[in-house]
Amino acid sequence: MGLISGVLGFIFLSALLFSNAQGAVHKHYWVVKQTNFTKLCTTSTILTVNGSFPGPEIHARKGDTVFVTVQNDGPYGITIHWHGVRQPRNPWSDGPEYITQCPIKPGGNFTQEINLSKEEGTVWWHAHSDWSRATVHGAIKVFPANGTSYPFNEPDGDQTIVFSSWYKSNVMDVLNEALAAGSDPNVSDAYTINGEPGDSYNCSKETMYSLLVETGKTYLLRIVNAILNEEMFFAIANHNMTVVGSDGAYVKPFSTDYLFITPGQTMDVLVTANQSASYYYMVLTPFLDTESSYDNTTSTALIKYSGNYTTPSSIPTPTFPNISDSISAQLFVVRLKSLADAAHPINVPTNITRQYFMTVSVNLFACPNSTGCTVDGNNKLAASLNNDSFLLPSTSMLQEYYDSNYNVSGFADQLPDKPPTPFNYTTVVNMSAYTSEGRGVITLNYGDEVEILFQGTNIGATQNHPMHLHGYGFYLVGTGSGDFDNGTDRGRFNLVDPPEVNTIGVPRKGWSAIRFKADNPGVWFLHCHFERHITWGMSTVVIVKNGDTNETSMRPPPSYMPPCS
Ligand code: C2O
Ligand code: CU
Repeated sequence: MGLISGVLGFIFLSALLFSNAQGAVHKHYWVVKQTNFTKLCTTSTILTVNGSFPGPEIHARKGDTVFVTVQNDGPYGITIHWHGVRQPRNPWSDGPEYITQCPIKPGGNFTQEINLSKEEGTVWWHAHSDWSRATVHGAIKVFPANGTSYPFNEPDGDQTIVFSSWYKSNVMDVLNEALAAGSDPNVSDAYTINGEPGDSYNCSKETMYSLLVETGKTYLLRIVNAILNEEMFFAIANHNMTVVGSDGAYVKPFSTDYLFITPGQTMDVLVTANQSASYYYMVLTPFLDTESSYDNTTSTALIKYSGNYTTPSSIPTPTFPNISDSISAQLFVVRLKSLADAAHPINVPTNITRQYFMTVSVNLFACPNSTGCTVDGNNKLAASLNNDSFLLPSTSMLQEYYDSNYNVSGFADQLPDKPPTPFNYTTVVNMSAYTSEGRGVITLNYGDEVEILFQGTNIGATQNHPMHLHGYGFYLVGTGSGDFDNGTDRGRFNLVDPPEVNTIGVPRKGWSAIRFKADNPGVWFLHCHFERHITWGMSTVVIVKNGDTNETSMRPPPSYMPPCS
């Protein structure tokens, strides 16, 4: 239902205009408001865009521009981010609260300009203020530019599949309780596929999502993981999937019987209806190799063939890796490779001018004798990059940067380019779990060729961390287990056809290396895409300075930005 009303909203509210620029211009008007939904036998009031969950889809072509006016009729300040959209020179419309703007106040509105440049395939949008993204999110389908086509046969059907977290209680209460206690937040009550939990949960059988297919046809499924705090496996009974894209870029097609997908990632897959006409389960189940709490439930949906046949008495279910099967998770990740052909060239930096070695840890803050310190009686949970736990300001860092005439030193500290104290990251047993609060940023010159080596550590609750960078696609040039070895591991980097993505899992007690060229000036958030880890400070800001020309400099602010006070 959410999808249908989303599509209707799209047709009704969007005007297709043409500009002097290459691409088309689209306009949308969105209303953020509270909406009641009944799931799991409980009626919950959630924040939505235009009353739909998941929210409305944006459809555009590569190179188009989309204007979205967000009217906030909800009770909380809110911002919207266009996840995976590079927004060249235009951080003003990127959306993360207190990084590029202050929240749109209740009753206020803000128009953002979404500039689709290099991305093609599936990206998405979501709220980027407190935990509102739980229910405020939707897909962005970026079709090939006019006169170009997919690097595969035109699919017979094109369907978005969005994974979300569902809480019976108000997500804001979940967040506030966790903050008040300084401990792990309550886990979600269900996962949903296109807004529906499916028949493994109470009161959810009738509304289960189903995808109608016709025998012999091939469907492009655009899969978005909008879940808050868990990475997922996904599989379809009796049907292999051919992965053709991820994070708004094509990949060399490969066939698989399961997907591993982190919060923030998208996967474009082709599925051919080549089985006997019947029903088949699609199953979504968490991957978790940690001791911290998580939602250990399973969401289901159906593929239903059209035609006349008797409904099967038992519907086939897929097999997929075990919940803690980190090897299968990692085997999936390393199969992603760029097309790297003439029509889809890649440009992996090889002349690195800025190198970061960045530890990624879940930590503690000591706070004896204060409230909100329930961990071991005297501590609360924290998280850090290079032992710096990022404290969000209450003003817009982008605005401050602009107002200070691009002088970073006036308002920010520099995040160290390596951990303050080197240690045996993945084997150490006696390393202090404490970290310190700060606001360290990474400052890059325009044109820098950057490498960031994310190193998981053995501190606190160890697990995978899906790291996401705004404003860029980056190349995942390597990933592996244990402490990164600058000899052997570096020697195995893939500089030939690494995937160009915007979110990558840093394996538990392992590492991932990314590279990108700093060619998009602005102020860009870099963070773990687990909501609770952002809350605890697992983030930093990448400030890319202006180049020498207008074309290599940030645009000036639009005439209206939401006020900070
Ligand atoms: Cu999908 Cu900073 O987010
Ligand atoms: Cu994390």
